[in-house]
Amino acid sequence: MATDPKGKSPAAKQAAGDASQPPPEPQARDARRDERIARLRDSLARARRVCVLTGAGVSAESGVPVYRGNEGLYQAFSAADMATPEGFARNPEKVWAWYIDRRRQLLEVKPNPGHAALARLEQLMAAQGRAFRLVTQNIDGLHQAAGSRDPVELHGNIWKTRCTECGTVSGQYGEIFEGLPRCARCKALCRPHIVWFGELLDPAVWQSAVRAACECDFLLSVGTSAAVQPAAGLIHMAAANGALVAEINLEETANTRWVDLSLLGKSGEILPRVVE
Ligand SMILES: NC(=O)c1ccc[n+]([C@@H]2O[C@H](COP(=O)([O-])OP(=O)(O)OC[C@H]3O[C@@H](n4cnc5c(N)ncnc54)[C@H](O)[C@@H]3O)[C@@H](O)[C@H]2O)c1
Ligand SMILES: [Zn+2]
Repeated sequence: MATDPKGKSPAAKQAAGDASQPPPEPQARDARRDERIARLRDSLARARRVCVLTGAGVSAESGVPVYRGNEGLYQAFSAADMATPEGFARNPEKVWAWYIDRRRQLLEVKPNPGHAALARLEQLMAAQGRAFRLVTQNIDGLHQAAGSRDPVELHGNIWKTRCTECGTVSGQYGEIFEGLPRCARCKALCRPHIVWFGELLDPAVWQSAVRAACECDFLLSVGTSAAVQPAAGLIHMAAANGALVAEINLEETANTRWVDLSLLGKSGEILPRVVE
């Protein structure tokens, strides 16, 4: 059963979108969506400290498949071989070849209006002296490509490498290389700067995300199934600290029934309307 950190009443749950009710007529649905977008805009306008948590869904309209899909980049993906330290130790050439291939595919995609709207929101809030923090589970670098300045990247960044000996992180968007990358400082082998299965998040990165979630008065979760921990826990932390919580997602998530505001639809269509 979905946890309900806000202890919502049945009426509040219905307002957030009750799956047990028959689906509304298209016109009524559009009106309800417009009303929710207006409410989300109002809440954002009033917030002093905003935290936005994004997931793979934000990049879906750019053509980057979400994790749960069965196509594109994740086809023939073997997590045990490509996304574990053991797989890398067994065959670093194979792992790097796979990540370079993914980098090549990412060179073909561009940020979408959802990324752009979040970059604009960050600018607007900074200009008004309000706090804003973007926390992403995505590794594709599309938020930065759209103009977001310093997102907290919980799971790393595919365009960066990390030294297996001294931990030096380097690399930049668009870099494609042949063979195995070596550390500029100590010449040891570098690995992708990505959090693999079974690995812990970088403690400093996680602390930044926790601070953003716990100190915000408004948390917006966009395009994440909220199924991957510990990232999904940030939504609960914000709620437990009294923040208003809103969600934009193509379909319902485990949080839909308790969040203050849930908007079903594409982030690339909804976000630009929220950040006008
Ligand atoms: N672009 C990327 O960098 C990328 C892509 C796939 C997976 N991942 C990694 O895999 C894990 C997956 O967790 P996750 O929660 O981020 O993704 P997920 O694949 O578990 O869930 C994606 C969510 O996005 C929703 N969605 C799909 N298209 C959407 C759209 N156009 N607008 C709004 N919502 C949409 C889906 O309904 C789903 O709930 C993460 O750890 C992430 O690091 C990253
Ligand atoms: Zn090194």
